[in-house]
Amino acid sequence: MAAAGSGATAGHENWSSRSAFILAAVGSAVGLGNMWRFPAEAGENGGGAFVLFYVFCVLLIGLPVLLSEVLIGRHGQASAPDSVQKVAQDSGASKGWSVIGSLGVFAAFLILSFYCVVGGWVVYYIGVFLGDLFQTGLTGGAFEGRAAEDIESLLPGLFGNGMLMIGLNMGFLAATIFFVARGVSSGIEWVAVYLMPLFFLLFLGITVYGAFTGNFSEAVTYLFTFDFSKLTGEVMLAAVGQAFFSLSLGVAGMITYGSYASRNTNLGATSGIIAGADTAVALLAGLAIFPIVFAAGLSASVGPGLMFQSLPIAFQAMPFGSLIGLAFFIMVFFAALTSSVSLLEAPVAFVKDRFKMSRMTATIIVGLGAAVLGVLSSLSFNDMADFRPLAFIPLFAEANFFDALDGVTAKLFMPIGAILTCIFVGWVADAKLIDDENGLDGVLHQTWRALVRYVCPIILAVILFFGIFG
Ligand code: PHE
Repeated sequence: MAAAGSGATAGHENWSSRSAFILAAVGSAVGLGNMWRFPAEAGENGGGAFVLFYVFCVLLIGLPVLLSEVLIGRHGQASAPDSVQKVAQDSGASKGWSVIGSLGVFAAFLILSFYCVVGGWVVYYIGVFLGDLFQTGLTGGAFEGRAAEDIESLLPGLFGNGMLMIGLNMGFLAATIFFVARGVSSGIEWVAVYLMPLFFLLFLGITVYGAFTGNFSEAVTYLFTFDFSKLTGEVMLAAVGQAFFSLSLGVAGMITYGSYASRNTNLGATSGIIAGADTAVALLAGLAIFPIVFAAGLSASVGPGLMFQSLPIAFQAMPFGSLIGLAFFIMVFFAALTSSVSLLEAPVAFVKDRFKMSRMTATIIVGLGAAVLGVLSSLSFNDMADFRPLAFIPLFAEANFFDALDGVTAKLFMPIGAILTCIFVGWVADAKLIDDENGLDGVLHQTWRALVRYVCPIILAVILFFGIFG
Protein backbone atom coordinates (compact mmCIF):
# COMPACT_ATOMS: atom_id res chain seq x y z
CA MET A 1 0.00 0.00 0.00
CA ALA A 2 1.32 3.44 -0.87
CA ALA A 3 2.59 5.37 2.09
CA ALA A 4 3.76 8.27 -0.01
CA GLY A 5 4.38 11.50 1.75
CA SER A 6 3.32 10.24 5.14
CA GLY A 7 6.67 8.90 6.22
CA ALA A 8 4.89 5.64 7.05
CA THR A 9 6.58 2.31 7.43
CA ALA A 10 6.47 0.35 4.20
CA GLY A 11 3.37 -1.80 3.98
CA HIS A 12 1.54 0.05 6.75
CA GLU A 13 -1.93 1.13 5.72
CA ASN A 14 -3.28 4.68 5.83
CA TRP A 15 -6.54 6.61 6.03
CA SER A 16 -7.32 8.17 2.70
CA SER A 17 -7.90 11.63 4.22
CA ARG A 18 -8.00 13.52 7.47
CA SER A 19 -11.78 13.48 7.48
CA ALA A 20 -11.75 9.71 7.06
CA PHE A 21 -9.54 9.49 10.14
CA ILE A 22 -11.88 11.77 12.10
CA LEU A 23 -14.98 9.83 11.05
CA ALA A 24 -13.37 6.49 11.90
CA ALA A 25 -12.14 7.72 15.29
CA VAL A 26 -15.50 9.34 16.10
CA GLY A 27 -17.08 6.07 14.94
CA SER A 28 -14.90 4.17 17.40
CA ALA A 29 -15.73 6.54 20.24
CA VAL A 30 -19.47 6.86 19.60
CA GLY A 31 -21.13 3.55 20.31
CA LEU A 32 -23.04 1.57 22.90
CA GLY A 33 -21.06 3.58 25.42
CA ASN A 34 -22.96 6.73 24.45
CA MET A 35 -26.37 5.36 23.64
CA TRP A 36 -26.71 2.62 26.21
CA ARG A 37 -24.10 2.96 28.95
CA PHE A 38 -24.07 6.77 29.40
CA PRO A 39 -27.81 7.30 30.00
CA ALA A 40 -27.89 4.20 32.20
CA GLU A 41 -24.93 5.39 34.28
CA ALA A 42 -26.26 8.94 34.51
CA GLY A 43 -29.63 7.60 35.64
CA GLU A 44 -28.11 5.30 38.23
CA ASN A 45 -25.75 7.93 39.57
CA GLY A 46 -28.20 10.72 40.18
CA GLY A 47 -28.19 12.66 36.89
CA GLY A 48 -26.64 16.15 37.00
CA ALA A 49 -23.78 15.47 39.42
CA PHE A 50 -22.60 12.55 37.31
CA VAL A 51 -22.97 14.45 34.05
CA LEU A 52 -20.97 17.46 35.15
CA PHE A 53 -18.18 15.35 36.59
CA TYR A 54 -18.19 13.27 33.44
CA VAL A 55 -17.59 16.34 31.28
CA PHE A 56 -14.85 17.39 33.69
CA CYS A 57 -13.19 13.95 33.29
CA VAL A 58 -13.38 14.15 29.50
CA LEU A 59 -11.66 17.53 29.44
CA LEU A 60 -9.04 16.97 32.12
CA ILE A 61 -8.21 13.31 31.65
CA GLY A 62 -9.84 11.87 28.54
CA LEU A 63 -8.70 14.47 26.04
CA PRO A 64 -5.03 14.56 27.14
CA VAL A 65 -4.86 10.75 27.13
CA LEU A 66 -6.55 10.60 23.74
CA LEU A 67 -3.97 12.93 22.25
CA SER A 68 -1.18 10.90 23.87
CA GLU A 69 -2.50 7.70 22.29
CA VAL A 70 -2.99 8.92 18.72
CA LEU A 71 0.39 10.62 18.94
CA ILE A 72 2.16 7.37 19.87
CA GLY A 73 0.45 5.61 16.96
CA ARG A 74 1.22 8.30 14.43
CA HIS A 75 4.88 8.35 15.37
CA GLY A 76 5.15 4.56 15.43
CA GLN A 77 3.25 3.82 12.19
CA ALA A 78 2.75 0.26 13.35
CA SER A 79 0.50 -1.86 15.58
CA ALA A 80 0.10 -0.58 19.15
CA PRO A 81 2.94 -2.49 20.86
CA ASP A 82 5.35 -1.77 18.00
CA SER A 83 4.34 1.89 17.93
CA VAL A 84 5.07 2.29 21.64
CA GLN A 85 8.35 0.49 21.10
CA LYS A 86 9.32 2.83 18.27
CA VAL A 87 8.65 5.91 20.41
CA ALA A 88 10.65 4.31 23.24
CA GLN A 89 13.58 3.51 20.96
CA ASP A 90 13.60 6.96 19.40
CA SER A 91 13.69 8.37 22.93
CA GLY A 92 16.49 6.08 24.09
CA ALA A 93 14.15 4.27 26.50
CA SER A 94 13.58 0.58 27.16
CA LYS A 95 11.69 -1.51 24.62
CA GLY A 96 9.78 -2.92 27.57
CA TRP A 97 7.37 0.02 27.40
CA SER A 98 5.70 -1.79 24.52
CA VAL A 99 3.80 -3.61 27.27
CA ILE A 100 1.40 -0.62 27.17
CA GLY A 101 0.43 -1.68 23.67
CA SER A 102 0.29 -5.39 24.45
CA LEU A 103 -1.96 -4.92 27.48
CA GLY A 104 -4.17 -2.64 25.42
CA VAL A 105 -4.46 -5.09 22.56
CA PHE A 106 -5.45 -7.82 24.97
CA ALA A 107 -8.03 -5.58 26.66
CA ALA A 108 -9.51 -4.60 23.29
CA PHE A 109 -9.87 -8.28 22.44
CA LEU A 110 -11.68 -8.95 25.74
CA ILE A 111 -14.00 -5.96 25.28
CA LEU A 112 -14.73 -6.98 21.70
CA SER A 113 -15.96 -10.37 22.89
CA PHE A 114 -18.68 -9.00 25.17
CA TYR A 115 -19.39 -5.85 23.13
CA CYS A 116 -20.61 -8.10 20.33
CA VAL A 117 -22.95 -9.83 22.78
CA VAL A 118 -24.70 -6.51 23.46
CA GLY A 119 -24.50 -5.76 19.73
CA GLY A 120 -26.55 -8.94 19.30
CA TRP A 121 -29.27 -7.58 21.60
CA VAL A 122 -29.47 -4.50 19.40
CA VAL A 123 -29.98 -6.73 16.36
CA TYR A 124 -32.73 -8.56 18.27
CA TYR A 125 -34.58 -5.30 18.95
CA ILE A 126 -34.28 -4.30 15.30
CA GLY A 127 -36.09 -7.56 14.56
CA VAL A 128 -38.68 -6.93 17.27
CA PHE A 129 -39.56 -3.44 16.01
CA LEU A 130 -39.54 -4.56 12.40
CA GLY A 131 -42.03 -7.29 13.25
CA ASP A 132 -44.10 -4.83 15.25
CA LEU A 133 -44.15 -2.35 12.38
CA PHE A 134 -45.74 -5.00 10.20
CA GLN A 135 -48.21 -5.91 12.90
CA THR A 136 -49.34 -2.54 14.21
CA GLY A 137 -48.76 -0.39 11.15
CA LEU A 138 -46.97 2.87 10.61
CA THR A 139 -48.85 5.53 12.52
CA GLY A 140 -49.80 4.00 15.86
CA GLY A 141 -47.66 3.47 18.95
CA ALA A 142 -45.45 0.43 19.24
CA PHE A 143 -46.73 -2.85 20.68
CA GLU A 144 -50.38 -1.84 20.52
CA GLY A 145 -52.48 -3.49 23.19
CA ARG A 146 -49.59 -5.20 24.91
CA ALA A 147 -48.98 -4.79 28.64
CA ALA A 148 -45.86 -2.96 29.81
CA GLU A 149 -44.62 -6.07 31.65
CA ASP A 150 -44.88 -7.89 28.41
CA ILE A 151 -42.59 -5.44 26.64
CA GLU A 152 -40.23 -5.36 29.58
CA SER A 153 -39.94 -9.13 29.52
CA LEU A 154 -38.58 -9.15 25.97
CA LEU A 155 -35.03 -8.76 27.31
CA PRO A 156 -35.18 -11.49 29.97
CA GLY A 157 -36.94 -13.58 27.33
CA LEU A 158 -33.93 -13.17 25.07
CA PHE A 159 -31.54 -13.88 27.95
CA GLY A 160 -33.33 -17.14 28.61
CA ASN A 161 -32.66 -18.35 25.09
CA GLY A 162 -28.97 -19.26 25.02
CA MET A 163 -28.93 -20.42 21.41
CA LEU A 164 -30.56 -17.24 20.14
CA MET A 165 -28.13 -15.14 22.18
CA ILE A 166 -25.16 -16.98 20.68
CA GLY A 167 -26.58 -16.73 17.17
CA LEU A 168 -27.10 -12.96 17.43
CA ASN A 169 -23.69 -12.49 19.01
CA MET A 170 -22.04 -14.44 16.18
CA GLY A 171 -23.96 -12.45 13.58
CA PHE A 172 -22.76 -9.15 14.99
CA LEU A 173 -19.20 -10.45 15.29
CA ALA A 174 -19.31 -11.76 11.71
CA ALA A 175 -20.29 -8.30 10.42
CA THR A 176 -17.37 -6.82 12.37
CA ILE A 177 -14.98 -9.43 10.96
CA PHE A 178 -16.21 -8.81 7.44
CA PHE A 179 -15.31 -5.11 7.48
CA VAL A 180 -12.00 -5.48 9.31
CA ALA A 181 -10.89 -8.21 6.90
CA ARG A 182 -11.39 -5.77 4.01
CA GLY A 183 -8.72 -3.47 5.38
CA VAL A 184 -8.29 0.06 6.65
CA SER A 185 -9.38 2.14 3.71
CA SER A 186 -11.86 -0.20 2.02
CA GLY A 187 -13.38 -1.75 5.15
CA ILE A 188 -13.02 0.24 8.36
CA GLU A 189 -13.11 3.57 6.60
CA TRP A 190 -16.04 2.52 4.44
CA VAL A 191 -18.13 1.69 7.52
CA ALA A 192 -17.29 5.02 9.10
CA VAL A 193 -17.82 7.15 6.02
CA TYR A 194 -21.22 5.66 5.20
CA LEU A 195 -22.63 4.68 8.58
CA MET A 196 -21.58 7.64 10.72
CA PRO A 197 -23.39 10.27 8.63
CA LEU A 198 -26.47 8.01 8.61
CA PHE A 199 -26.10 7.65 12.34
CA PHE A 200 -25.98 11.43 12.82
CA LEU A 201 -29.03 11.92 10.62
CA LEU A 202 -31.14 9.41 12.54
CA PHE A 203 -29.77 10.68 15.81
CA LEU A 204 -30.72 14.26 15.07
CA GLY A 205 -34.18 13.24 13.93
CA ILE A 206 -34.89 11.20 17.04
CA THR A 207 -33.51 13.85 19.39
CA VAL A 208 -35.69 16.54 17.85
CA TYR A 209 -38.70 14.23 17.87
CA GLY A 210 -38.05 13.33 21.52
CA ALA A 211 -37.70 17.00 22.42
CA PHE A 212 -41.04 17.90 20.87
CA THR A 213 -43.12 14.93 21.88
CA GLY A 214 -41.46 14.02 25.17
CA ASN A 215 -40.94 15.72 28.48
CA PHE A 216 -37.93 17.76 27.45
CA SER A 217 -37.78 20.24 30.31
CA GLU A 218 -37.80 17.53 32.96
CA ALA A 219 -34.97 15.79 31.15
CA VAL A 220 -32.92 18.98 30.96
CA THR A 221 -33.44 19.67 34.64
CA TYR A 222 -32.54 16.12 35.48
CA LEU A 223 -29.35 16.01 33.44
CA PHE A 224 -28.03 19.49 34.10
CA THR A 225 -29.01 20.38 37.65
CA PHE A 226 -25.85 19.97 39.60
CA ASP A 227 -26.31 18.78 43.16
CA PHE A 228 -22.99 18.64 45.02
CA SER A 229 -24.29 16.31 47.68
CA LYS A 230 -24.77 13.61 45.07
CA LEU A 231 -21.12 13.66 43.99
CA THR A 232 -19.84 10.70 45.99
CA GLY A 233 -16.65 8.71 45.39
CA GLU A 234 -18.64 6.03 43.68
CA VAL A 235 -20.23 8.54 41.30
CA MET A 236 -16.81 9.96 40.43
CA LEU A 237 -15.46 6.49 39.78
CA ALA A 238 -18.37 5.69 37.52
CA ALA A 239 -17.90 8.97 35.63
CA VAL A 240 -14.22 8.53 34.92
CA GLY A 241 -14.74 4.91 33.87
CA GLN A 242 -17.50 6.02 31.54
CA ALA A 243 -15.29 8.75 30.05
CA PHE A 244 -12.61 6.19 29.24
CA PHE A 245 -14.97 3.65 27.80
CA SER A 246 -16.74 6.23 25.71
CA LEU A 247 -13.55 7.74 24.28
CA SER A 248 -12.14 4.24 23.52
CA LEU A 249 -9.11 4.88 25.73
CA GLY A 250 -6.58 2.68 27.47
CA VAL A 251 -7.05 -0.25 25.09
CA ALA A 252 -4.76 0.45 22.12
CA GLY A 253 -7.62 1.27 19.77
CA MET A 254 -6.72 4.93 19.42
CA ILE A 255 -3.00 4.12 19.13
CA THR A 256 -3.86 1.81 16.24
CA TYR A 257 -6.12 4.36 14.54
CA GLY A 258 -3.49 7.07 15.05
CA SER A 259 -0.95 4.89 13.26
CA TYR A 260 -2.94 5.21 10.03
CA ALA A 261 -2.94 9.02 10.25
CA SER A 262 -0.75 11.03 7.95
CA ARG A 263 2.08 13.33 9.00
CA ASN A 264 0.20 16.47 8.16
CA THR A 265 -2.80 15.79 10.39
CA ASN A 266 -2.85 18.13 13.36
CA LEU A 267 -3.37 15.66 16.19
CA GLY A 268 -4.19 18.22 18.87
CA ALA A 269 -7.06 19.69 16.88
CA THR A 270 -8.23 16.27 15.71
CA SER A 271 -8.34 14.90 19.26
CA GLY A 272 -10.42 17.91 20.28
CA ILE A 273 -12.93 17.17 17.52
CA ILE A 274 -13.15 13.48 18.45
CA ALA A 275 -13.68 14.16 22.16
CA GLY A 276 -16.10 17.00 21.42
CA ALA A 277 -18.22 14.91 19.08
CA ASP A 278 -18.29 11.95 21.44
CA THR A 279 -19.32 14.06 24.41
CA ALA A 280 -21.95 15.92 22.41
CA VAL A 281 -23.49 12.63 21.31
CA ALA A 282 -23.53 11.30 24.88
CA LEU A 283 -25.26 14.42 26.20
CA LEU A 284 -27.70 14.53 23.31
CA ALA A 285 -28.41 10.82 23.75
CA GLY A 286 -29.47 11.68 27.29
CA LEU A 287 -31.63 14.48 25.88
CA ALA A 288 -33.17 12.06 23.40
CA ILE A 289 -33.85 9.20 25.78
CA PHE A 290 -34.89 10.84 29.05
CA PRO A 291 -37.70 13.06 27.64
CA ILE A 292 -39.28 9.97 26.09
CA VAL A 293 -38.85 7.94 29.27
CA PHE A 294 -40.14 10.75 31.51
CA ALA A 295 -43.13 11.42 29.26
CA ALA A 296 -44.14 7.79 29.75
CA GLY A 297 -43.86 8.28 33.52
CA LEU A 298 -40.99 5.79 33.84
CA SER A 299 -38.02 5.95 36.17
CA ALA A 300 -34.58 7.19 35.10
CA SER A 301 -32.59 5.02 37.42
CA VAL A 302 -33.17 1.51 36.12
CA GLY A 303 -29.61 1.12 34.76
CA PRO A 304 -28.81 -1.15 31.81
CA GLY A 305 -32.52 -1.84 31.26
CA LEU A 306 -33.11 1.80 30.32
CA MET A 307 -32.46 1.48 26.61
CA PHE A 308 -33.64 -2.10 26.15
CA GLN A 309 -36.66 -2.12 28.45
CA SER A 310 -37.90 1.36 29.45
CA LEU A 311 -37.44 2.95 26.06
CA PRO A 312 -39.46 0.32 24.16
CA ILE A 313 -42.28 0.80 26.69
CA ALA A 314 -42.06 4.55 26.14
CA PHE A 315 -42.30 4.05 22.37
CA GLN A 316 -45.68 2.46 23.00
CA ALA A 317 -47.20 5.82 23.85
CA MET A 318 -45.68 7.65 20.89
CA PRO A 319 -47.21 8.27 17.51
CA PHE A 320 -45.15 6.37 14.93
CA GLY A 321 -43.77 4.37 17.86
CA SER A 322 -42.76 1.25 15.93
CA LEU A 323 -41.05 3.28 13.25
CA ILE A 324 -39.18 5.45 15.76
CA GLY A 325 -38.21 2.34 17.70
CA LEU A 326 -36.91 0.68 14.56
CA ALA A 327 -34.98 3.80 13.53
CA PHE A 328 -33.57 4.10 17.02
CA PHE A 329 -32.15 0.57 17.14
CA ILE A 330 -30.81 0.76 13.58
CA MET A 331 -29.03 3.92 14.62
CA VAL A 332 -27.55 2.22 17.70
CA PHE A 333 -26.50 -0.69 15.48
CA PHE A 334 -24.53 1.65 13.20
CA ALA A 335 -22.83 3.28 16.17
CA ALA A 336 -22.00 -0.09 17.73
CA LEU A 337 -20.57 -1.54 14.53
CA THR A 338 -18.16 1.34 13.96
CA SER A 339 -16.94 0.78 17.53
CA SER A 340 -16.61 -2.99 17.39
CA VAL A 341 -14.61 -2.63 14.20
CA SER A 342 -12.03 -0.58 16.11
CA LEU A 343 -11.98 -3.12 18.94
CA LEU A 344 -11.16 -5.87 16.45
CA GLU A 345 -8.67 -3.81 14.48
CA ALA A 346 -6.31 -3.25 17.43
CA PRO A 347 -5.56 -6.98 17.99
CA VAL A 348 -5.69 -7.74 14.25
CA ALA A 349 -3.04 -5.11 13.47
CA PHE A 350 -0.89 -6.63 16.19
CA VAL A 351 -1.26 -10.27 15.12
CA LYS A 352 -0.77 -9.37 11.47
CA ASP A 353 2.47 -7.42 12.14
CA ARG A 354 3.93 -9.66 14.79
CA PHE A 355 3.33 -13.00 13.11
CA LYS A 356 3.69 -11.72 9.54
CA MET A 357 0.24 -12.93 8.55
CA SER A 358 -2.16 -11.66 5.96
CA ARG A 359 -4.91 -9.37 7.27
CA MET A 360 -7.47 -12.02 6.39
CA THR A 361 -5.80 -14.80 8.41
CA ALA A 362 -5.16 -12.49 11.36
CA THR A 363 -8.79 -11.30 11.36
CA ILE A 364 -10.13 -14.83 11.31
CA ILE A 365 -7.88 -15.99 14.12
CA VAL A 366 -8.73 -13.06 16.41
CA GLY A 367 -12.39 -13.30 15.40
CA LEU A 368 -12.52 -16.98 16.33
CA GLY A 369 -11.01 -16.21 19.72
CA ALA A 370 -13.63 -13.53 20.30
CA ALA A 371 -16.32 -15.99 19.23
CA VAL A 372 -15.25 -18.51 21.89
CA LEU A 373 -15.29 -15.89 24.65
CA GLY A 374 -18.54 -14.55 23.24
CA VAL A 375 -20.24 -17.92 23.65
CA LEU A 376 -19.20 -17.97 27.30
CA SER A 377 -20.48 -14.39 27.74
CA SER A 378 -23.78 -15.21 26.04
CA LEU A 379 -24.20 -18.22 28.29
CA SER A 380 -23.60 -16.15 31.44
CA PHE A 381 -27.19 -14.96 31.11
CA ASN A 382 -28.62 -18.44 31.14
CA ASP A 383 -26.93 -21.85 31.33
CA MET A 384 -23.78 -20.53 32.99
CA ALA A 385 -25.41 -17.89 35.16
CA ASP A 386 -23.83 -19.35 38.31
CA PHE A 387 -20.31 -19.58 36.95
CA ARG A 388 -18.00 -17.15 38.83
CA PRO A 389 -14.70 -17.17 36.91
CA LEU A 390 -12.95 -14.72 39.24
CA ALA A 391 -14.39 -15.91 42.55
CA PHE A 392 -10.89 -15.76 44.08
CA ILE A 393 -10.68 -11.95 43.58
CA PRO A 394 -12.96 -10.19 46.08
CA LEU A 395 -13.68 -7.27 43.71
CA PHE A 396 -15.04 -9.64 41.06
CA ALA A 397 -16.22 -12.48 43.29
CA GLU A 398 -19.88 -12.07 42.37
CA ALA A 399 -19.35 -11.48 38.65
CA ASN A 400 -20.46 -13.95 36.00
CA PHE A 401 -18.30 -14.36 32.89
CA PHE A 402 -19.76 -11.33 31.07
CA ASP A 403 -19.55 -9.05 34.11
CA ALA A 404 -16.05 -10.28 34.91
CA LEU A 405 -14.78 -9.26 31.46
CA ASP A 406 -16.54 -5.91 31.74
CA GLY A 407 -15.22 -5.30 35.27
CA VAL A 408 -11.63 -6.37 34.61
CA THR A 409 -11.30 -4.26 31.46
CA ALA A 410 -13.01 -1.12 32.79
CA LYS A 411 -11.64 -1.20 36.33
CA LEU A 412 -8.13 -2.56 35.71
CA PHE A 413 -6.93 -2.60 32.11
CA MET A 414 -8.23 0.82 31.07
CA PRO A 415 -6.96 2.84 34.04
CA ILE A 416 -3.64 0.96 34.22
CA GLY A 417 -3.12 1.38 30.48
CA ALA A 418 -3.89 5.08 30.75
CA ILE A 419 -1.58 5.65 33.73
CA LEU A 420 1.30 3.92 31.93
CA THR A 421 0.57 5.94 28.78
CA CYS A 422 0.73 9.20 30.74
CA ILE A 423 3.98 8.26 32.45
CA PHE A 424 5.44 7.15 29.15
CA VAL A 425 4.41 10.22 27.14
CA GLY A 426 4.90 12.71 29.97
CA TRP A 427 8.15 11.51 31.49
CA VAL A 428 9.89 8.86 29.41
CA ALA A 429 9.44 9.84 25.77
CA ASP A 430 11.71 12.46 24.28
CA ALA A 431 10.12 15.89 24.81
CA LYS A 432 11.14 17.12 21.36
CA LEU A 433 9.60 14.09 19.65
CA ILE A 434 6.36 14.63 21.52
CA ASP A 435 6.42 18.34 20.79
CA ASP A 436 6.80 17.64 17.07
CA GLU A 437 3.83 15.28 17.03
CA ASN A 438 1.19 16.90 19.17
CA GLY A 439 0.23 19.90 17.06
CA LEU A 440 -0.13 22.17 20.09
CA ASP A 441 1.56 25.49 20.75
CA GLY A 442 2.15 27.79 23.67
CA VAL A 443 -0.24 27.65 26.58
CA LEU A 444 -2.17 24.72 25.14
CA HIS A 445 1.00 22.68 24.85
CA GLN A 446 2.03 23.54 28.39
CA THR A 447 -1.39 22.78 29.80
CA TRP A 448 -1.56 19.46 28.01
CA ARG A 449 1.91 18.51 29.20
CA ALA A 450 1.09 19.39 32.82
CA LEU A 451 -2.11 17.35 32.61
CA VAL A 452 -0.32 14.32 31.17
CA ARG A 453 2.60 14.53 33.59
CA TYR A 454 0.84 15.28 36.84
CA VAL A 455 -2.93 15.61 36.84
CA CYS A 456 -3.97 12.52 34.86
CA PRO A 457 -1.68 9.91 36.44
CA ILE A 458 -2.39 11.15 39.97
CA ILE A 459 -6.16 11.28 39.58
CA LEU A 460 -6.16 7.93 37.80
CA ALA A 461 -4.01 6.30 40.46
CA VAL A 462 -6.34 7.55 43.20
CA ILE A 463 -9.35 6.30 41.29
CA LEU A 464 -7.72 2.95 40.58
CA PHE A 465 -6.85 2.58 44.26
CA PHE A 466 -10.39 3.30 45.41
CA GLY A 467 -11.80 1.22 42.61
CA ILE A 468 -9.91 -1.80 43.89
CA PHE A 469 -9.83 -1.28 47.65
CA GLY A 470 -12.61 1.22 48.28
N1 PHE B 1 -16.11 3.83 22.77
C1 PHE B 1 -16.93 2.72 22.43
C2 PHE B 1 -18.36 3.03 22.86
O1 PHE B 1 -18.61 4.03 23.44
C3 PHE B 1 -16.46 1.44 23.01
C4 PHE B 1 -15.00 1.16 22.81
C5 PHE B 1 -14.16 1.04 23.90
C6 PHE B 1 -14.47 1.09 21.53
C7 PHE B 1 -12.81 0.84 23.74
C8 PHE B 1 -13.12 0.89 21.34
C9 PHE B 1 -12.28 0.77 22.43
O2 PHE B 1 -19.24 2.24 22.64
